Amino acid sequence: MCSLKIALQKSGRLSEKSIDLITEAGINIMNGTRKLVSRASNFPVEIMYLRDDDIPQYVYDGVADIGIVGENVFREKNKTLRIIERLGFARCRLSLAVEKQSRYTGIQFFEGKRIATSYPNILDSFLKENGIRAEIHEINGSVEIAPGIGLADAIFDVVSTGSTLISNGLKEVETVMRSEAVLVGGNGLTEAKREILSALLFRIRAVQKARDNKYILLNAPNEKLDEIAGILPGMKSPTVMPLAMEGWSSVHSVVNENQFWEVINKLKEAGAQGILVIPIEKMIV
Ligand code: PRP
Ligand code: ZN
Repeated sequence: MCSLKIALQKSGRLSEKSIDLITEAGINIMNGTRKLVSRASNFPVEIMYLRDDDIPQYVYDGVADIGIVGENVFREKNKTLRIIERLGFARCRLSLAVEKQSRYTGIQFFEGKRIATSYPNILDSFLKENGIRAEIHEINGSVEIAPGIGLADAIFDVVSTGSTLISNGLKEVETVMRSEAVLVGGNGLTEAKREILSALLFRIRAVQKARDNKYILLNAPNEKLDEIAGILPGMKSPTVMPLAMEGWSSVHSVVNENQFWEVINKLKEAGAQGILVIPIEKMIV
């Protein structure tokens, strides 16, 4: 039987959340064993666990059909693949950092300097765009120690919380790109695989939507219902049901995480009481 091969990061920044996403999409993968390849028991996919840096190449070669990778790695490897879906997790940035005691006054600082990085292509285009000539030292891993051991004057690397920079006496001075996990694929999928992919995307989007939204229940005096309905964005319009107590109703709706606190405050001001907020498991719109 035909199955879609999905490449995930074996271990690191993306791996746990990638597996969570697939699992929350209702796909049973036995990740306890973490064999190189494992087949899902209830959906036609095979999961391949690889080094994230290798994922674009494997997808490009057709060894895997799609993959979940950081946009930083995807851009660096520069393969003709497309981003099928942005996944919103593993957010980080690629930044230039210098020693914390350096006097940094602007990008000209890097002229003639040695910069250590695992992302030479992205760095090279950035320097060219800004007319800076610098020496790029490509190293794989532990880039942050390069200035301390005198190998470089600066680094260009992934920054997430910033704690790696701090513990190595470095400071971030230029953000070059922002990154998040992305689902990537090539163009040559067979009809059967395209169908599996679209079923998978349907599920992934339902999981993503559910994560971005909360179910909200509240009680409101009837004369305030119009005002309250106006505050709630909802999927269509809120569900309103009479309460046993005369003159009051229960209102149910869905609120986006981003607008959440603003909406709650307005609801309270409008006279809502007993507000309950509940996570949504799947959301199909
Ligand atoms: C990056 C980077 C730093 C660290 C920064 O490595 O090389 O070591 O993360 O994170 P922080 O700002 O939260 O301290 P990553 O986990 O991406 O590993 P990889 O490059 O080996 O895939
Ligand atoms: Zn990596």
